[in-house]
Amino acid sequence: MLVLLSFLSFLNPAPHTLCMELPASMRFRQLDDWTILRSREAESRLKALNFTGTINLAERPVDSSDPSRRPWYMKGGRRMPFPAVKSRRTGRRLAKLWPDEDANDDRVTNQLMFMPPEYNRTYAESHLKKIMIPHGMGEALTGRDVFFNQKCPVNTCVITRDNMENADLVVFQDYISHVGHRPPNQIWMIYFLECPYHTQNIKNAAINWTGTYRKDSDIVAPYERWQYYDPSVTQINQHFNYAANKTKKVAWFVSNCHARNQRMRYAKELGKHIQVDIYGACGPLHCPRSQAQTCFDMLDVDYKFYLAFENSNCKDYITEKFFVNGLGHNVLPIVMGAHPTDYARSAPYRSYIHVDEFESPKELAEYLYRLDNDDELYNSYFKWKGTGEFINTYFFCRVCAMLHDDRPPKSYNDVNDWWRGNGVCTSGSWREHDAVAMSSRNV
Ligand SMILES: *[C@@H]1O[C@H](CO)[C@@H](O)[C@H](O)[C@H]1NC(C)=O
Ligand SMILES: *[C@@H]1O[C@H](CO)[C@@H](O)[C@H](O)[C@H]1NC(C)=O
Ligand SMILES: *[C@@H]1O[C@H](CO)[C@@H](O)[C@H](O)[C@H]1NC(C)=O
Ligand SMILES: *[C@@H]1O[C@H](CO)[C@@H](O)[C@H](O)[C@H]1NC(C)=O
Repeated sequence: MLVLLSFLSFLNPAPHTLCMELPASMRFRQLDDWTILRSREAESRLKALNFTGTINLAERPVDSSDPSRRPWYMKGGRRMPFPAVKSRRTGRRLAKLWPDEDANDDRVTNQLMFMPPEYNRTYAESHLKKIMIPHGMGEALTGRDVFFNQKCPVNTCVITRDNMENADLVVFQDYISHVGHRPPNQIWMIYFLECPYHTQNIKNAAINWTGTYRKDSDIVAPYERWQYYDPSVTQINQHFNYAANKTKKVAWFVSNCHARNQRMRYAKELGKHIQVDIYGACGPLHCPRSQAQTCFDMLDVDYKFYLAFENSNCKDYITEKFFVNGLGHNVLPIVMGAHPTDYARSAPYRSYIHVDEFESPKELAEYLYRLDNDDELYNSYFKWKGTGEFINTYFFCRVCAMLHDDRPPKSYNDVNDWWRGNGVCTSGSWREHDAVAMSSRNV
C-alpha cells in the first residue's frame, strides 16, 4: 500500500492529491466512483492543456514569456520568496496569510511565497517544527523528505507518526484519534477532503486550524487551484472550433444514483428536453471502469456538454469532476454543487454553466439548444484556455511555512458549526436556498 501511495505521489505531488491518490474506492467509499479519473490520469489531462507563462496574483505581473521568472510553484518557475517585508508602522509582516487577515481570498499564493521576516535557517535547522500525523495522509512520509522533495522555501519541519507529546502541530484527517494529554502550545488541525455530509462530527476538541477545500480554511486544500498568468487577461481568442463534428449533446457519468442534491432528478428532467446520455450504474449506457479514459475521450469528440454534478451542494465543494473531467476536456461543463459565487471565484472565467443560472431544467435545455446552434457562442466558453494554469498548492510546504509564522493563538469555538452549520450545505438548489434566505431577511 505504501509503495503504491508513494509511487502515485511521485506522479502527482499536488497537496490535495494526498487523498486523491487513494484508490477511488477507498477515497470516495460508496459515494461515487465516477468521481474518478485517478490522479495519474488527472495529471496527464491537465498537462495536456499545456499552459505557459504566469504571474502571482499577489504580486506585480512579471514577464510571462520567461518561465524561470515565474514563482517557484508554477511550471518552470524559479522565483523564490524573500523574508517577508514588515510594516514600519506596526512592525508586522504585510503578507496576508490567515482567514482573519483576508477573508476574500484563499491566500494560497501568499502562503506559498511566505518566509518569516527574520527567518534564520541555521537556527531553524536546530529547532525543527514537529508535525505529527496520527493516521491517514499516507503520502506524508516521516522525516523531512516531503519538504525537500517539494523544494519548499521554508523546509525546517519534520513529520512524525508517533510521540505526540513533542509535536508542535498535530494534523488529524477526518477524525480526532487522541484523548491523552495535550501540551499547552500544541496546535491541532483538522483536515477534511470530503464534504460535511460525508465527514464525522468533531466532538469536544479545541481545533486551532482547518485544512479543507473551503476558501475560509486556514490552509486551503482545494481539489485544483486555477491561477491566471495575468489577472487582467482572462479571455483569449482560440484557433479551434470546439463544436466541430460533435453530434451529441449532454453526457453524464455517474454511479451513485441517490445523491442528496437530487442531481438525478434534475438530469432526468433535463433529459425530457434535450438528449442526456447517462453512463454508469444509474443509466442505460455503459462504459467499463477499465476504459474510463476512453469514455472521457468521447467528451472531446462527440459531446457538447458534460454534467459535472457533485454529489452534494455545499460551500466551495468543487471536485475533479469539474476541474479534470470537465475542464480537462474540450467540452462545456454544466455544474451543480457549490454556490454559483463559489464557482465564480474558483473557476476560470466563463468556463462553465451553473444550473442555478436557470429557473428550471427546461430553461437550461433551451439555452443549450441556443449554444448548440451557435458555434461562436459555444466557443466563447473556451476562451479561458491558455490564460493560466492549475498550480500545485504544496500543502505541506504551506503548513511548514505557517508554523513559522509568529501569530497570536487562534482556535475555533465550535469547528462543527463552522464546518456544517447553517447555510454551509443545502439539500435543494442554491436558487431556492437564496430565495428562502432573502425572504426570511425581509420578514
Ligand atoms: C506545448 O506548448 C509548447 C509551446 O507552445 C509547444 O512547443 C508544444 O508542442 C506543446 N505540447 C503539446 C503536447 O501540445
Ligand atoms: C542565526 O542563528 C544562529 C544560531 O542561533 C546564530 O548563531 C546566528 O547569529 C543567527 N544569524 C542571524 C543572521 O541572526
Ligand atoms: C472534423 O471532421 C473533418 C472531416 O473529417 C476533419 O477534417 C476535421 O479535422 C475535424 N475537426 C475537428 C475539430 O475534429
Ligand atoms: C489552540 O487552541 C487552544 C484551545 O482553544 C488554545 O488554548 C491555544 O492557545 C491555541 N493555540 C494556538 C497556537 O493557537
